[in-house]
Amino acid sequence: MISFENKKILITGATGGIGNELVRKFINLGGKVVATGTKSEKLDIIKKKYSNVKIQKFDISNHSGIEEFIDNVVLDLGGLDILINNAGINKDNLSIRMKDEEWKKVIDVNLNSTFLLCKHSIKIMLKNKFGRIVNIASIVGHSGNLGQSNYSASKAGIIGMSKSLAIEYAKKNITVNCVSPGFIATDMTSNIAEKVKLFLTSRIPMGKLGSGEDVSNCVAFLSSDSASYVTGETLHVNGGMYMA
Ligand code: NAI
Repeated sequence: MISFENKKILITGATGGIGNELVRKFINLGGKVVATGTKSEKLDIIKKKYSNVKIQKFDISNHSGIEEFIDNVVLDLGGLDILINNAGINKDNLSIRMKDEEWKKVIDVNLNSTFLLCKHSIKIMLKNKFGRIVNIASIVGHSGNLGQSNYSASKAGIIGMSKSLAIEYAKKNITVNCVSPGFIATDMTSNIAEKVKLFLTSRIPMGKLGSGEDVSNCVAFLSSDSASYVTGETLHVNGGMYMA
């Protein structure tokens, strides 16, 4: 049985569909959690739901504020053992129509912010001689996807970056892994046209979209003692849609 008793955990993108499930999972397994996101009302809902969760509103695209943000998380929790980089955005467009702003914003939030959150968390984890980082990538970081050159590049970047961090800190008892979800039923996928959704579902051997819990189960495993000899890996959660 996985337990996060006494573990101090930061979850970004906590207000989203997958983030909500991550918060629920880690709290239910005994973890001390800081849930972060940009939407106050949704953070308040999390606060009301779990008496022991800590909330910090923070926009991860504020790069110069990330070090101070991590310091505040450490103050709030009394340390930092596990970082789950789950926040992410998409701004889809065919590449020849893609605006500079759409390319840059997605790379900035998904890749650059994730790197800085890892960097400043690792400094804390090195002092503690323990750390678990799980970065949420995506199936399209492996396969590519129509209209998602920016998003796919950001997620492929996360996977390469995570492997490099895994190598750098493997001897320091810090593991860095990724979870790559396929199509998961959340806000991010709710605006996909019904016709496209049917087409996508027909390409999933299990014939259905995944749930937030399908993802949180894998994140919990990679953050747990059961995965202490696993680093630089990517766990695919996609109902068989992409078999790496
Ligand atoms: P969502 O749209 O429901 O949630 C995204 C979360 O990221 C929200 O909490 C949002 O507030 C937060 N966020 C966005 N920009 C932020 C910023 N600048 N600063 C702080 N927080 C910010 O999306 P969902 O589906 O829950 O996605 C979670 C992660 O899973 C994302 O990284 C996404 O790319 C990834 N993913 C999702 C898939 C899906 O099918 N839903 C498939 C593959 C990957």
